[in-house]
Amino acid sequence: MGDLSKQKVLVTGGSRGIGAAISQLIASRGATVALNYRSNAEAAESVAKGFDNVHLVPFDVSSRDACKEGVTKAAELMGGMTAVVNNAGVAINGLLMRVKEPDFRKTIDVNVSGGYWICQAASRHLLKAKSDGRVIFLSSVVGEMGNAGQTAYCTSKAAVIGLTKSMARELAPRGVCVNAIAPGFIETDMTQSEMTEEARATVAAQIPLGRIGSAREVAGIVAFLLSDEASYITGQVIRVNGGLLM
Ligand SMILES: NC(=O)c1ccc[n+]([C@@H]2O[C@H](COP(=O)([O-])OP(=O)(O)OC[C@H]3O[C@@H](n4cnc5c(N)ncnc54)[C@H](OP(=O)(O)O)[C@@H]3O)[C@@H](O)[C@H]2O)c1
Repeated sequence: MGDLSKQKVLVTGGSRGIGAAISQLIASRGATVALNYRSNAEAAESVAKGFDNVHLVPFDVSSRDACKEGVTKAAELMGGMTAVVNNAGVAINGLLMRVKEPDFRKTIDVNVSGGYWICQAASRHLLKAKSDGRVIFLSSVVGEMGNAGQTAYCTSKAAVIGLTKSMARELAPRGVCVNAIAPGFIETDMTQSEMTEEARATVAAQIPLGRIGSAREVAGIVAFLLSDEASYITGQVIRVNGGLLM
């Protein structure tokens, strides 16, 4: 199901977690993938192993110049670019009173500016793709509901929703669809490194489906949004959260 062979997709932060699951799922459905990561080459290589349609494109999305060069390189490797999945992200937690300026700035630089610069550089390619063109942002459930101790992260994930809706309006006349996915708690390094077993059990108990989600459960929605079946969905925030926020 869901043949994606006409899609040429830049996936940022594809070396681990949700981005790795997205890259492997869409590559297995025929998409050509430019897999971006920042520094973990070993992890990126193991995600791409066995796929001749996955190309590695390391760069730091928080740099505008690196995004411009990275998008050019990705388009060269793929022979064009029809879609972008803005997934690279960092979560630096802390109460408002304690958050240090470099941590706040890094959160915005990676989670918001990164997607912004990537899309600015990729626009030319996306417009050419017309109704095959797709942009998907990874927001978060906490971008909509807020979370004590995550003010910087929530700010960044709420900003991504504004960017999604504005881009959706700008690109709709050319047929390009732009959406955000707002996952709840998903099993990845990002959640594992921040949470004890006890904290995870407490979180799971608050989720109507009673468990933390998997990266594959988010990747499936990305694959759907990249497909022809999703050609009339734009400007939406798709919640994938086990019912945590309804
Ligand atoms: N996990 C969750 O529960 C959850 C929930 C809601 C939303 N999200 C969002 O989903 C996205 C993926 O999260 P995840 O849990 O899969 O994260 P993760 O396991 O921590 O992986 C983060 C990925 O982003 C890359 N990255 C980080 N900074 C980068 C930069 N400056 N330039 C390029 N790549 C960079 C990392 O590359 P390296 O391997 O090279 O470091 C890695 O591939 C994030 O935007 C996150 O905010 C996650």
